[in-house]
Amino acid sequence: MSQTTASITTAQWQQKRDQFVSKGVSNGNRSLAVKGEGAELYDLDGRRFIDFAGAIGTLNVGHSHPKVVEAVKRQAEELIHPGFNVMMYPSYIKLAEKLCGIAPGSHEKKAIFLNSGAEAVENAVKIARKYTKRQGVVSFTRGFHGRTNMTMSMTSKVKPYKFGFGPFASEVYQAPFPYYYQKPAGMSDESYDDMVIQAFNDFFIASVAPETVACVVMEPVQGEGGFIIPSKRFVQHVASFCKEHGIVFVADEIQTGFARTGTYFAIEHFDVVPDLITVSKSLAAGLPLSGVIGRAEMLDAAAPGELG
Ligand SMILES: Cc1ncc(COP(=O)(O)O)c(C=O)c1O
Repeated sequence: MSQTTASITTAQWQQKRDQFVSKGVSNGNRSLAVKGEGAELYDLDGRRFIDFAGAIGTLNVGHSHPKVVEAVKRQAEELIHPGFNVMMYPSYIKLAEKLCGIAPGSHEKKAIFLNSGAEAVENAVKIARKYTKRQGVVSFTRGFHGRTNMTMSMTSKVKPYKFGFGPFASEVYQAPFPYYYQKPAGMSDESYDDMVIQAFNDFFIASVAPETVACVVMEPVQGEGGFIIPSKRFVQHVASFCKEHGIVFVADEIQTGFARTGTYFAIEHFDVVPDLITVSKSLAAGLPLSGVIGRAEMLDAAAPGELG
């Protein structure tokens, strides 16, 4: 801990936080974190916390993992940011190769890297639109995809994510998503699935025509407003509907990726191969990095300079 950090009390840090940091950034715990190690955080007053949040699914390998710290130090000494579009460098290419190898599906894949989760989702939409030459974007009720204008439009929950921030992006639609906890009393999971699958199909009659839809973006396990696990049948239905109608199926694995649900990617539980996968959070153990991995022909639909 630096001397300056220690010479100011927690109460003074709180006062400074209120004075200089936007209120729009939430702040669940007003202790001052000064050290993180594995699954634990330590505050300025020497208290030890078990960190169940892990920066909201960002630290699957824990705080300051020694291998991550070593890699950061080594990289900072060698090269920080040549800008891949200016001059290519090995780590970008090596990571793309690795992710194309572990992402589901034996087809040819490519990757692109961005800074934040929302930016990855934005780029998945751009890629799908360029590839399909269509505009529609379908996400799901209770989904979360970020806080930029496009991803806020795709996000379901109004307060606090959307309230007062409109107008939103056009051509974005939210399809029904199963929530077994709320199924009518006495109904079996199987019948509930029938009902939601029917509602999903009806949605493409009542709300948007499938031939105008570029992509369907789904969190394989929803992570906002409950951790909601859809059935295999529902996810497989959505994937085959997309295939039938030439729609790009995007798995938003920003929160579920990197073994958070037991497999590298949560979509693997459903025996579905998505066309595109968005990744971020635990991809870089706390450093700001995200990406889109997917079918080579889709990642190559945009011309040089159109993505970056
Ligand atoms: C599924 C999902 N998509 C997108 C995002 C947005 O990521 P970021 O906050 O890095 O922009 C999140 C963040 O919580 C997320 O959980």
